[in-house]
Amino acid sequence: MKNLLILEHPLIQELLTKLRDKKTSQIPFRKGLVTLGRIMGYELIKTMSIKKIKVETPIGQADGVEIPDRDNIVIVQILRASMPFVEGLIKAFPEAKMGVVSAKRIEGSNDSDFRFKIEMDYMNVPEISQDTILLLADPMLASGSTLLKVIDELLKLGNPKRLIVAAVIASPLGVERLFQNFPQAELIVAALDPSLNDNGYIVPGLGDAGDRAFGG
Ligand code: URA
Repeated sequence: MKNLLILEHPLIQELLTKLRDKKTSQIPFRKGLVTLGRIMGYELIKTMSIKKIKVETPIGQADGVEIPDRDNIVIVQILRASMPFVEGLIKAFPEAKMGVVSAKRIEGSNDSDFRFKIEMDYMNVPEISQDTILLLADPMLASGSTLLKVIDELLKLGNPKRLIVAAVIASPLGVERLFQNFPQAELIVAALDPSLNDNGYIVPGLGDAGDRAFGG
């Protein structure tokens, strides 16, 4: 799948392993999500165009680079599980503008295909222009119901240059729905897990990311 990037970096995989471990308690879990966000952000930079420049050192001229799109990022965090993840991402993109969306699925509202009803009660997002790299952070891409609803609303505000979703773990159903509905989207993840359980949680996953990061 051309728009799906699964990060195999051993450090990312080690952090993910710690997050998956049910023995990892709240604070190390939250810190792990922050670190993972930062490193995934650095990996995302590898997909950005580079401008070659010259730089004057105190004793000569050297070849150098700039990454202009780092200044065009709008990170949108979907409350609440994405908060620590975004705290990490923003370290890789310190110039990013920030949007906040409160959206969650209504547990038990799903049909047999895991289409959940979504409750979305707050959205405050900076301007989205044709230069914007729109980066949505949602640690768990499970059924995709929340993400699709949020993207729908965001694209009413503007047409970004790139639409990137950063997730820690995605399910095949979530990936399929994302690309079916938004073929222009790009997805960057630490892992793709095989399935969902009856409640729409990713298996084996890491459990409820919000509960594990902030207490149930
Ligand atoms: N949200 C979570 O936190 N975990 C899942 O597995 C699915 C949705």
